[in-house]
Amino acid sequence: MARKAVTKAKATKTGPATKAAKPVLSKGKPVLSKGKTGIVKPVYVLNGPNLNLLGLREPEIYGSTSLSDIEKLVANHAKTQGVNVLCLQSNHEGDLVTWIQEARTMASGLIINPAAYSHTSIAIHDALAMLDIPTVEVHISNVHKREEFRHYSYVSSVVSGVICGLGVKGYTLALDAIIADLTK
Ligand code: DQA
Repeated sequence: MARKAVTKAKATKTGPATKAAKPVLSKGKPVLSKGKTGIVKPVYVLNGPNLNLLGLREPEIYGSTSLSDIEKLVANHAKTQGVNVLCLQSNHEGDLVTWIQEARTMASGLIINPAAYSHTSIAIHDALAMLDIPTVEVHISNVHKREEFRHYSYVSSVVSGVICGLGVKGYTLALDAIIADLTK
């Protein structure tokens, strides 16, 4: 139920991403707050393929928290910090590229868990390379303790920082890092 409202709210806010966002399974909305930090534009929180199934997907690796719960955690944390967030998820590389491009003008910072695209996507690398805002790559699991194909990320060289292996807490830590950067 909440998701429907969320979808509508976002559709009026985000311009170009709106069309790409339609088939997306889990979405967020900007959380409006008083803005004690003075950060007006939202921090984009992008999640890539299969993360819509968090909670059900390999819980021994990713835990039992759903994506919608993670988005609520981040949104609530953002609210206490006086910033807005816009949470988006897609299983499609092009959607993520479009949202990253949109973030160039619409976002004050960007958190991204590109999921499997971390290890394959030059398109996401190239889109992130054009950003001039603080960006944090998040992985819930410690990819370096896992299969070798997860050890390389095309994304890490074009973001401000990387958080991996700290579970879903990584998302709020990433937000804190972005706020600290924007307010320093
Ligand atoms: C992940 C790690 C990736 O290797 C994997 O493909 C994911 C999730 C993580 O959050 O730990 O889908 O990004």
